[in-house]
Amino acid sequence: MHADEIRALVQGHQVHRDVYTSHAVYQAEMRHLFANAWIFVGHDSQTPNKGDYITTQIGDQPVIQVRHSDGNIHILHNRCPHKGTKIAIDRAGNTGKFFRCPYHAWSFKTNGCRLAIPLKKGYDGTGLENTPNYEGMAAVGAVEVYHGFVFARLAYNGISFEEFFGDSLSSIDNMVARAPEGRLKIAGPPLRYMHKCNWKMLVENQTDTCHPMVAHESSAGTAIDIFREMGEPEPRPAAMQIIAPFMSAYEFFESMGIRTWPNGHGHTGVNMSIHSDYDAIPGYYEALKQTHGERKAKAILDESRHNSVYFPNMMVKAPLQQLRNFIPLGPDKTLVESYVYRLAGAPDQLVAMSSMYNRMINAPTSIVGHDDLEMYERAQEGLQSNGLEWVNLQRLYETGEDFDVEAVENGTTERQMRNQFDAWVKFMTADMEEAA
Ligand SMILES: [Fe+2]
Repeated sequence: MHADEIRALVQGHQVHRDVYTSHAVYQAEMRHLFANAWIFVGHDSQTPNKGDYITTQIGDQPVIQVRHSDGNIHILHNRCPHKGTKIAIDRAGNTGKFFRCPYHAWSFKTNGCRLAIPLKKGYDGTGLENTPNYEGMAAVGAVEVYHGFVFARLAYNGISFEEFFGDSLSSIDNMVARAPEGRLKIAGPPLRYMHKCNWKMLVENQTDTCHPMVAHESSAGTAIDIFREMGEPEPRPAAMQIIAPFMSAYEFFESMGIRTWPNGHGHTGVNMSIHSDYDAIPGYYEALKQTHGERKAKAILDESRHNSVYFPNMMVKAPLQQLRNFIPLGPDKTLVESYVYRLAGAPDQLVAMSSMYNRMINAPTSIVGHDDLEMYERAQEGLQSNGLEWVNLQRLYETGEDFDVEAVENGTTERQMRNQFDAWVKFMTADMEEAA
C-alpha cells in the first residue's frame, strides 16, 4: 500500500472500516507499523538466569527474548539462518549455553552469533562465510529494558525509545514505585485469551469509558443485584470491590479524566478510577512508607491510573500491577496475554488481589471479559455490512486537535482513540512510498 492510501483511511473523527477488516492493511501494519514502533516483548524476570528464554511475536515476527552469558537480554529473530526453522518452539525454557537448530544442528550463542555448523568442510570455497546466513541468528533493530520491561524496535533505524514513549513512561514508573523494594517480578505465566477480532478494537476498548455500564451490565449488574439480596455483608468481598465499579454512572467516568500523550499513548483515570476504592491491604502502606516516607508513599498510591495504553498494542494497569499485550494474528484474530506482577517487598495479599482481578476480568473463564469479546466479534462481523463505510470516533471531538502535546480531558472523550489513529498513520507511513 502507498502512504496516501493509508492516510485516506483516517479522517480524524472517523476511520474507514478497512482498518479493521482489510488483509492489505493488516499486511502493511505488520511490515511498517510493527517495524517502526517500539513493541513490548516481555519482562526481564521471565528470563532471570543465563540461557533462559521466552518466545513471542512482534507483529507477525517470531522472536526470542533470551538472557545471554554476559547477563544482558537479547531479542533475536526466531529463525535458523540455514533453512528458516524456528529455533525455539516452547513458550519458555532454558537453552543452556547455546541454541541448537533441531533440523541440521547449526548452533548459536545466546546472543545469536554462529557457534558451529556440522560437516563444515562441505562449505569450503562456496562463499557461505560472505553471506548474512553465516553470521547467525539475526537480532532485532534495537532493544531497551525499562524498569525490567523489555521493548524492541524491529527497524534498525527510527525513533528512539525515549522519544517514542516520552512522559507516558510515568505509568510504568508508578507501577514500579509501588514496590517497597523498587522492582517487579512476574507472578506466573499470562492468561491467554483468543479473540476473533482486529487487535485495534481491543486497544481502543482500554480507554472506552462509555461501555462498562452497558456491556457489563449482565455480569457486574447481576453481581450487584445478588450482593444486595444478600444484604450487602461487610467487609465487602474482594470480588465485589473489583466488579461493582464497572457499573459506575457516566458522570463517574466523565470526572475520571483521560490524558493523552504524543505518539498514541494515553490513559484513563487521571483524577481517580474504578481502582480507587479498594480496601487497604494490611502492612502494605507501612512497607511503602518505610521506603519512601509518608508524603511520597501517599502520592504513589493516590495515583490511580485505570488503563495506560502504550501504543500500538499494550496496556498497563499500574494500581493492580497488570499488563495486557494484544498480539495480532490476522486482521480478524488477536491473542490477548494478561500478566500479573508481584511487588517486591509487598504482602502476598496484593498479588492475590491482582490475580483475582485477572481471573475475573481477563481469563477465558472470566465473567467480564466475554462481554467485551462478544462486542468485538459482533463488530468484526457487523463491519462486513455495506450499510456504512466509516466507524465513528467523534465523542468530544474538536477539529484541528494537536496530538503532539499532552492533554487532559473529560473521561468519556474518544480523543485517545483518535490519538492512536494519528500515531497509526505516522508510523505506518514513516517508511512508505507515496503513489507515483
Ligand atoms: Fe469492557
